[in-house]
Amino acid sequence: MRSCKAPSWDSERCAPSPMLLFSLLLCAAPLGLLGEETRQVSLEVIPDLLGPPENLLHIRAVGSNSTLHYVWSSLGPPAALLVATNTPHSVLHVNWSRLLSSEPTGGLMVFPEDSIQFSSALVFTRLFEFDSTDAAAKPPGKPYPPYSLSKFSWNNITDSLDLVTLTATFQGHPTDDPTGAFANGSLIFKVQAFSKSGRPDQPPRLLHTADTCQLEVALTGASPRGNHSLFALEVATLGQGPDCPSMQEQHSIDDEYAPAVFQLNQLLWSSLLSGFVQWRPVAFSQKQGGRESAMPCQASPLSTTAYHLPQSPVVRAFFGSRSIFCAFNLTFGASTGPGYWDQNYLSWSMLLGVGTPPVDTFSPLVLGIMAVALGAPGLMLLAGGLFLLLGPKRYSEYQPIN
Ligand SMILES: *[C@@H]1O[C@H](CO)[C@@H](O)[C@H](O)[C@H]1NC(C)=O
Ligand SMILES: *[C@@H]1O[C@H](CO)[C@@H](O)[C@H](O)[C@H]1NC(C)=O
Ligand SMILES: *[C@@H]1O[C@H](CO)[C@@H](O)[C@H](O)[C@H]1NC(C)=O
Ligand SMILES: *[C@@H]1O[C@H](CO)[C@@H](O)[C@H](O)[C@H]1NC(C)=O
Ligand SMILES: *[C@@H]1O[C@H](CO)[C@@H](O)[C@H](O)[C@H]1NC(C)=O
Ligand SMILES: *[C@@H]1O[C@H](CO)[C@@H](O)[C@H](O)[C@H]1NC(C)=O
Repeated sequence: MRSCKAPSWDSERCAPSPMLLFSLLLCAAPLGLLGEETRQVSLEVIPDLLGPPENLLHIRAVGSNSTLHYVWSSLGPPAALLVATNTPHSVLHVNWSRLLSSEPTGGLMVFPEDSIQFSSALVFTRLFEFDSTDAAAKPPGKPYPPYSLSKFSWNNITDSLDLVTLTATFQGHPTDDPTGAFANGSLIFKVQAFSKSGRPDQPPRLLHTADTCQLEVALTGASPRGNHSLFALEVATLGQGPDCPSMQEQHSIDDEYAPAVFQLNQLLWSSLLSGFVQWRPVAFSQKQGGRESAMPCQASPLSTTAYHLPQSPVVRAFFGSRSIFCAFNLTFGASTGPGYWDQNYLSWSMLLGVGTPPVDTFSPLVLGIMAVALGAPGLMLLAGGLFLLLGPKRYSEYQPIN
């Protein structure tokens, strides 16, 4: 679908041609019209009435012809399930005894099954830390032992549920923390759903639609193990068939919403009505994200992993033991520039959704500049013409005055 991808150029030195701008405008417009414009969104923490309480968040986003189900859970490593159906009446069914058993297959189902158009999952498996000062090691540096996110304990998301902003926050720290690195720290997954399109106030200000859900990952207050620690997050996803989803990079000339970031990265599953993950390759070292605290976020290529990924019961419950997992690393920051060490803080955001990924049209500021740049000669001609036409008439109005 990305037939009209903008070619890249050095955005600082050469101005794009008017023709290119025009074609960008043309191809940006219709894409925004696809999908449902608004959805009725509900967030529910599904309780296990018999067993110990577990964090299982169900986001149901109902449109006129479709329902999206997002299931976020910290059962095992933090994971998200995305199921899109072509009816406004589909429902999620949870069989807790099965979900918590050693054979969870069938513990999570969406009915009616034949309404399912697309389904996939993301699993956040490990948090890596590197010593970027170790010149002998290749970037991002010498790795410290990783934190396995399946061995974290998490807060009660029921207490964090905000039905007004449609958010819920998972806050966790390692169950076993011998060095006390997380004594005052936590890893935070803030999930937000949307009933219509818009853009948050906080950078990177990703454009969202009612077909998406946003995740903000923040690492805050954890003591780094070195003076210049870089962190990375390992993300695993289900492939469609034998192939891994594809990773793409889109370029934009407009950086108004994300200063100095001219790219948008996307992960696309390849089926027809497909799903996507989208993010800007930027993370922030301060809560008030801005140009001074922006650090690069680098994604490694997707690969089917050789090592044994921690199992997510939620993913197995829905997909069975079929497990072609593809994984990649997101590395935040570089050895120079802003970093986690500034304030022991980093945050990064992404969107998960179905259909066509939101495409940034030009911001009003850039449109204004373009209108002036492209339209100035035309405006001058028009103004000149009007003056010639109206000018003499106006003089004539003054003539009767004595
Ligand atoms: C979370 O808190 C709610 C009430 O605030 C309680 O009913 C539920 O059992 C708790 N869940 C967990 C996972 O502790
Ligand atoms: C929803 O379904 C109706 C009737 O089947 C159809 O006319 C309409 O285009 C559909 N809307 C969307 C957004 O797919
Ligand atoms: C849940 O799964 C168990 C088997 O693991 C089964 O015995 C039980 O009937 C199921 N419950 C429902 C409500 O489907
Ligand atoms: C955690 O915070 C307390 C109080 O602010 C402080 O005394 C302690 O040193 C901190 N621990 C770590 C590991 O940063
Ligand atoms: C951190 O920096 C201090 C002072 O620059 C140095 O003494 C210390 O050895 C460094 N620690 C590590 C783990 O590199
Ligand atoms: C992520 O990085 C770590 C540390 O370099 C490495 O061990 C792991 O295999 C990487 N994972 C993927 C999926 O590339």
